Amino acid sequence: MYFIANWKMFGGLNSLNSIHKVLKFLKNFRKNKKIKIIYCPPSTLINPMSKKLKNTRIDVGAQNCHQNQNYGAFTGSITPFMLKNVGAKYVIIGHSENRQEGETDRLINMKIKCALKSGLKVIFCIGETSKEKKGNKTKQKLNRQLKIGLNKIKIKKNIIIAYEPIWSIGSGLIPKSKELFEIINFIRNRSGNCKVLYGGSVNPKNISELNVINNVDGYMIGGASQDPKKLIDIIKKSYI
Ligand code: PGA
Repeated sequence: MYFIANWKMFGGLNSLNSIHKVLKFLKNFRKNKKIKIIYCPPSTLINPMSKKLKNTRIDVGAQNCHQNQNYGAFTGSITPFMLKNVGAKYVIIGHSENRQEGETDRLINMKIKCALKSGLKVIFCIGETSKEKKGNKTKQKLNRQLKIGLNKIKIKKNIIIAYEPIWSIGSGLIPKSKELFEIINFIRNRSGNCKVLYGGSVNPKNISELNVINNVDGYMIGGASQDPKKLIDIIKKSYI
């Protein structure tokens, strides 16, 4: 199971201390079993965090990247290669908060290709708005995001898809189990068998409800991931 901690634009150097609790918990939890925890802090923390997490069971990822592989005159941007250079192994691409700032499916496709070429693994986010859900347009939207986002990418083994309905992010709302089960299968089929995670308001209280379905490969956790206790709780309850 994957657990992606998406810290968004939160955290300074002192936030790194919170990881110790999680590391301590992981020491004895499901030893030798496959469990993938990936912290995606703001870019400013990627390097100190990856140093701290060297030779542990936690990997580090970035929250976005530029679509250009080489250095260039792009003020404020970071290429995937630079992220890798400071310790990132993963990068989130296509988060709805960045799509809202103008990222298109085509741009996202370029970013994914560039990140893969640079040797990063990609966490590719897709999801529908509440209006699209109400208008029964969810599958149509997801299909388009997958089709354009994954265009001309043949090898997909380094891509994980995070299904994050926009209406569920930060709202406390989660999809009904039956709906989620169906959508996860839909995404897996349309993506050529990528791992599929769920994200949106995952917390220790609703994780058992989310876990009812058995076809999800893990979770992307925003708000709750900044609190080590909550993150540990979510992980523990995912294996009950
Ligand atoms: P949330 O965010 O858990 O705070 O809803 C999830 C995300 O945006 O990845």
